[in-house]
Amino acid sequence: MGKQFKSLVLAGTAVTAGIYLWKQLQEQPERDGRSFLQQYGPWAIVTGAARAEGLGYGFARQLAGRHINLVLVDILAEELEARAQELRDKYLVHVKPVVLDLGRPDFLPELTAVTDGLEIGLLVCNHMFTPQETPTILEMDLATHHTMIDINARAYTTLVHAYGRQMVAQGHGGILLVSSQGGLHGTPFTGAYSANKAFQLMLGESLWYELRQSNVDVLVLAPGLTRTQGDALDDYPPFMLMDVAPVVQEALAGLGQQHLVIPGPVNKLFHFATTHLMSRQKAIVTTGDLMAQGLNK
Ligand SMILES: NC(=O)c1ccc[n+]([C@@H]2O[C@H](COP(=O)([O-])OP(=O)(O)OC[C@H]3O[C@@H](n4cnc5c(N)ncnc54)[C@H](OP(=O)(O)O)[C@@H]3O)[C@@H](O)[C@H]2O)c1
Repeated sequence: MGKQFKSLVLAGTAVTAGIYLWKQLQEQPERDGRSFLQQYGPWAIVTGAARAEGLGYGFARQLAGRHINLVLVDILAEELEARAQELRDKYLVHVKPVVLDLGRPDFLPELTAVTDGLEIGLLVCNHMFTPQETPTILEMDLATHHTMIDINARAYTTLVHAYGRQMVAQGHGGILLVSSQGGLHGTPFTGAYSANKAFQLMLGESLWYELRQSNVDVLVLAPGLTRTQGDALDDYPPFMLMDVAPVVQEALAGLGQQHLVIPGPVNKLFHFATTHLMSRQKAIVTTGDLMAQGLNK
């Protein structure tokens, strides 16, 4: 790496870190005179919330800490019930766990049976399915591609459509879609995942514009590597990994303020470098090389 490039990276990191810290110190302003609870409560739905280490449970914890009641959705029954009880005990909020396979095309009536009559102020679409192995696009079998599209794209659309309409009708709310840095440009070795995440990003960004006048805030979160999977990310450079809590905190702070949150200074810098300091093709090659290292390809 040349001296000039190193200095540029260091200066960029310092500036981005400064902006990040400054933002963290700002109080979240009320939205049009409404508190967070009034705008995004009294109930929130969080999908993919069963794993204790996961981002979904991270959202659930911070929302419960703001006195928002929760409908938690996941395919993992036992873990989901355990998370629900932890939140009830610690934060004294109401929690309704809903065990659902969001890949089933007909899942919605089972969810609305639970949420009918509840004022849903926030929808956090966070669930995701990707196989543990990381086959290339053509090595992955077609059935898995289709399952991923059902869970990661079709279900996101179904949820956004149902609860977005409800929020517009009630005159307030927020929709937070958890995409990924992998959705910002092609990401080799997780190509199907990258395509699903790009779908979520485009859905969310377009919806953000379309709902600007409706008092329903839309935000896409594009995290980079986040410590949610035990030691699965150990082969990546450690400075690239973020903890769950600051990712969630930055996303919730961005609601009503931004349409896209790329959390943390390192992810912001990586995004800046891949969009401003190199061609899109070079960005895909750089990301592919990084993935090959992290996945031992
Ligand atoms: N961790 C990262 O480095 C990272 C980086 C960028 C973006 N993200 C995004 O952040 C979100 C949360 O990821 P995470 O790392 O916290 O993973 P996670 O804990 O595995 O969360 C995903 C949850 O969704 C559940 N799920 C999978 N298929 C489902 C289905 N058909 N119906 C209902 N629930 C289903 C999973 O259950 P199973 O475990 O049984 O599949 C899991 O509990 C995802 O959208 C992910 O793409 C994560």
